Amino acid sequence: MELELLNQIKLNAAKHNMRIVLPEGTEPRTLKAAEVILKEKIAKLILLGDKEDIRNKASELGVDISLATLIDPSNDPHRDVYAAKMVELRKEKGLTTEEALILLNNPLYYGPLMIKCGDADGELAGAINATGDVLRPALQYIKTLPGCSVVSGAFLMFVDKKITEDGVLVFADCAVMPDPTDVQLAEIAIATAKTAKAIVGMEPRVAMLSFSTKGSAKHPFVDKVVNATKLAKQMAPDILIDGELQLDAALVKEVGELKSPGSLVAGRANVLVFPDLQAGNIGYKLVQRLAGVEAIGPVLQGIAAPINDLSRGCSVTDIVNMVAVTANQAANK
Ligand code: ACO
Repeated sequence: MELELLNQIKLNAAKHNMRIVLPEGTEPRTLKAAEVILKEKIAKLILLGDKEDIRNKASELGVDISLATLIDPSNDPHRDVYAAKMVELRKEKGLTTEEALILLNNPLYYGPLMIKCGDADGELAGAINATGDVLRPALQYIKTLPGCSVVSGAFLMFVDKKITEDGVLVFADCAVMPDPTDVQLAEIAIATAKTAKAIVGMEPRVAMLSFSTKGSAKHPFVDKVVNATKLAKQMAPDILIDGELQLDAALVKEVGELKSPGSLVAGRANVLVFPDLQAGNIGYKLVQRLAGVEAIGPVLQGIAAPINDLSRGCSVTDIVNMVAVTANQAANK
């Protein structure tokens, strides 16, 4: 399934030929991935950085990136247009043109501005930059989708088909929102169900995770999940959502039947929504590292254009896969 789904994602990306900007243009894994992406025609690539440095690094590594577009944010002719756009978007924050031009020297700002001004369709970064530094420019200039107030990050976890029929579980939020409110958690649940449907093609069954199942424990942390479940059901009555559920009640048929009888989600959940970022981030890494499960993500959701973040421990294959996911999101937009 893993290979089948990945191939499908790559083939679909290739049909649309989206322009994906990679701000970390001299980073070795990024350059190696760029060669694969260009060879397999997964996307058109824009590499940011000093053009000479990018070419020298590529030739040192022996990779062919001749089909990529190279842009140096420090002297590109579009800088003035992008700076004007930044000032327009941040006028309430008092951003000046001079400040905008300084920010644009940073490829992590240049990429989102290219997208905002229609010169690229998506971005992937994070091989050498912390998540916060990748996300901040995206949150400030790309903003959220209409009707959604929160950006969050989902992981596709390629598990054994004995656990779920599609061979994929979708986990969120594992990357962005440290301590969501009940309303934000409800929005994260709905966004994750949509990601599961759009990228994996699965019928989402969403479990709102807690250390309590249906009132077995009382605590304000549990109340947040109970409220978020109610709100999510009201906001999206057509999506199957249940909570609050412990992990075993969400995934194991016998435990689900015992602890939440009659539930259409308990015991067969395929989307797991964690109560906060501590749980979500630790949870996905536990499954990835201890069970050896392939994890693709974080796929950012709720954002108005596809910008995705990499873990700094990412491999060349992770970058290729995430460019394909980003291109799919751009094509579906
Ligand atoms: N959704 C939508 N907008 C948001 C969100 C969000 N989740 N978070 C912040 N914003 C907006 C703010 O409203 C603000 O907008 P404004 O400037 O127009 O007023 C802007 O983004 C900046 O927000 P701040 O809170 O000032 O920025 P800050 O840098 O403090 O926080 C960030 C944002 C970077 C996402 C922060 O919450 C963060 O660091 N999160 C954790 C990221 C992380 O480390 N994840 C774990 C590693 S990932 C991994 O392991 C795969």
